[in-house]
Amino acid sequence: MTESRAQITKAVIPAAGLGTRFLPATKATPKEMLPVVDKPAIQYVVEEAVTAGLSDVLMITGRNKRPLEDHFDRNYELEQVLRDKGDATRLSRVEESSGLGTMHYVRQGDPRGLGHAILCAAPHVGDQPFVVLLGDDLIDPRDPLLTRMMRVREEHGGSVVALMEVPPESIHLYGCVAAAPAGETDVVRISDLVEKPPAEDAPSNLAIIGRYLLDPAVFEVLRKTEPGRGGEIQITDALQTLAGEPSLGGPVHGVVFRGRRYDTGDRGDYLRAIVRLACEREDLGPDFRDWLRGFVTEEM
Ligand code: UTP
Repeated sequence: MTESRAQITKAVIPAAGLGTRFLPATKATPKEMLPVVDKPAIQYVVEEAVTAGLSDVLMITGRNKRPLEDHFDRNYELEQVLRDKGDATRLSRVEESSGLGTMHYVRQGDPRGLGHAILCAAPHVGDQPFVVLLGDDLIDPRDPLLTRMMRVREEHGGSVVALMEVPPESIHLYGCVAAAPAGETDVVRISDLVEKPPAEDAPSNLAIIGRYLLDPAVFEVLRKTEPGRGGEIQITDALQTLAGEPSLGGPVHGVVFRGRRYDTGDRGDYLRAIVRLACEREDLGPDFRDWLRGFVTEEM
């Protein structure tokens, strides 16, 4: 286990999955590039990492990686065109995504599971705690989750995962934990984890959402973790080993998040996320809400 007060600066964003739920949109485009209003989903996630002080971002990419790299790089030609037109607003929006953290990329090769994707980060991360962010979960910047997770690690050491209470009929879509209260109302100590259990076998209604603060001991455990559910190497299985043997890398705690989260990994939730975020936007919201009210009254 590493020193728990060491400042955490590295973020790992796995983005090598096949995104099959969004086919055919994701045939040639990573699902992380799908727009949520007018920004690709992945940009919200990188912004969240950088805001929490994680200025070193490693993206795990796959075969269709180019749009991801291009998005976080400069586009001189486009910038010049906007400059020549005197379009300062759009220019700053284009420059925003290339001025975030220091971006690094590594390829996963075959998508052998989220655990395997995280293991691809080992040479870059080294012996430091790090944060994993999944692009499917957008956390509202008004409800900072990562800084809370970092504080919990400072207090307890080990690893910390983000949890959310979900209705029993949805638990089979998530990793699920068995946990006991650990002092503060939003913190639990995790004793067991199971990936996507049927409702009747779920140990609780606490689902793992896409934020993990991991002790680097997880890499050694992942190297020894056999493929699990779906033939994939599961991070949930590695966390279960850590939770069962705290001598390996400290305990595993959970932060129960009760803030605003938008799930963009599922088509229905993705549409709901866009409508919610568009309604809240200062520039688009007023007109869009008026239209939506009319649409709901006349068409529904
Ligand atoms: P998902 O289980 O959501 O898979 O992965 P997916 O392929 O992205 O999407 P669907 O279910 O086929 O539509 C959770 C996260 O883990 C990454 C994905 O990119 C996603 O961010 N992942 C998954 C990898 O990077 N590599 C893998 O081998 C598997």
